[in-house]
Amino acid sequence: MKTLPELFDNNEEWRHRIEREHPGFFEKLVGQQQPKLLWIGCADSRVPANEIVGLMPGELFVHRNVANLVNHTDLNLLSVLQFGVDVLQVEHIMVVGHYGCGGVRAAMEDEPHGLIDNWLRQVRELYLRNRKSLGELPDEQARVDRMCELNVERQLVNVANTTIVQEAWRRGQKLNVHGWIYSIADGHLSDLKLGVQSNQELRQLEADSYSV
Ligand code: CO
Repeated sequence: MKTLPELFDNNEEWRHRIEREHPGFFEKLVGQQQPKLLWIGCADSRVPANEIVGLMPGELFVHRNVANLVNHTDLNLLSVLQFGVDVLQVEHIMVVGHYGCGGVRAAMEDEPHGLIDNWLRQVRELYLRNRKSLGELPDEQARVDRMCELNVERQLVNVANTTIVQEAWRRGQKLNVHGWIYSIADGHLSDLKLGVQSNQELRQLEADSYSV
């Protein structure tokens, strides 16, 4: 029995449309992938990386997990990052959060959520450190949204401090790390203007963010 037939029908329609609009598209892709962009985003189904920025297969290297986290012990993330930086030689890494992130929201709640609390622990720490300033915001939605931005900043700093990015910069490889945020409510993607492309800029960002 063929399950979910509509998805296979969609796929047929999609691949024919792509081939119609870009003759030879798939044949060219087979050779190799050469994306210059690495997207680290949330696994949330409402934040589909390629669609949001209008990129075709082959143009965006993607890693997604709950709450777009960069944990230094996450072999999955580190493997994607190493392949992206060392082999594909991506020039831009974007950490992309989104407003209303359920993972970030869960990390702010006092009740337990099971195993995922371990994954979200660093977001919880970030929340606890910023609890006072977040408390000055008018409502819960504003606090969650601000935390989503702070989380992007935190993960940007984390990715820039990995041995992989550090070594790339040390050998003079051009590599920009950006912090972006997406609004599910209206589809708008914005640049939080936290981007760094050197240790000097990274240290400045760290000094600014830790002094809050
Ligand atoms: Co999310």
